[in-house]
Amino acid sequence: MKAVIPVAGFGTRMLPASKAIPKELITLLDKPLIQYVVNEAALAGITDVVFVTHASKAAIENHFDTHFELESQLINKGNTELLKCVRSIAPSGMCFSAVRQARGQGLGHAVLCARSLIGDDDFVVMLPDVLLSDYECNHAKDNLAAMCARFAESQVSQILVEDVPPTEVNKYGIADLANIPDKGAVAQLNGVVEKPPVGSAPSTLAVVGRYVLSRQIWPLLAQTEPGRGGEVQLTDAIDALIRIAPVEAFRMTGRSHDCGSKAGYIETFVEYALRHPRYCELVKSKFAENM
Ligand code: G1P
Repeated sequence: MKAVIPVAGFGTRMLPASKAIPKELITLLDKPLIQYVVNEAALAGITDVVFVTHASKAAIENHFDTHFELESQLINKGNTELLKCVRSIAPSGMCFSAVRQARGQGLGHAVLCARSLIGDDDFVVMLPDVLLSDYECNHAKDNLAAMCARFAESQVSQILVEDVPPTEVNKYGIADLANIPDKGAVAQLNGVVEKPPVGSAPSTLAVVGRYVLSRQIWPLLAQTEPGRGGEVQLTDAIDALIRIAPVEAFRMTGRSHDCGSKAGYIETFVEYALRHPRYCELVKSKFAENM
């Protein structure tokens, strides 16, 4: 399975940090955010990653490419530990490619830009602002890997959803479901609506950045007109897919971390630091009296 990771956005919610550095390369503890997402893809058995990117964000591709000068310097210095670390950035066997999104016309348009690299195939979409795995890899295999396995068995598209407060439904794609599934289980989707106003959402189950999509969505995506915010929405193409094929909402295990906003990023940083086997004692001992 191939995964599309849209990274062309300017990350305005993370300014000023994201002015010259892609927001996906902002560091969470000791590695960039995008590395967590790519690791999650590898754990789900994904072998090909397609970045939909922008001219200003070539550093993302460089991060996963081989850096011969750096490696030979580390070899000459005998620094095997760092060499191993640098060489393991790209998961073994993972193939990376990139395509440019010339204009920011929405998530649906970004995904469509990857069509020539994916081909007429089923595919995964992973939004890089959303982290599901942590240092202990808790739940890293519960969600995307389970969605891929379910799709492989049934060929039914899978959309990851998570319960959100009723006041926050206007920030997400919201699922319209036949019934509310348990965590780790699925329910048939009747529809999905992009950022409905508070008070008129069909549920409080929000789409949280992981999709396993049937190839049937390609022509629908190509026909999708601009929707909410004047942008081509992936949500609208999924809603069209639901009219011609079954689509399931997969309710996530654990919880997602939104690292596309400052508050979400800071909360995630602290939480991951407190869980990290190497840094948790340091953080706790330094800040214990203030916590
Ligand atoms: C996008 C999707 C939305 C989804 C959200 C998850 O919105 O359009 O349906 O719920 O990601 O993070 P964005 O956050 O890019 O506005």
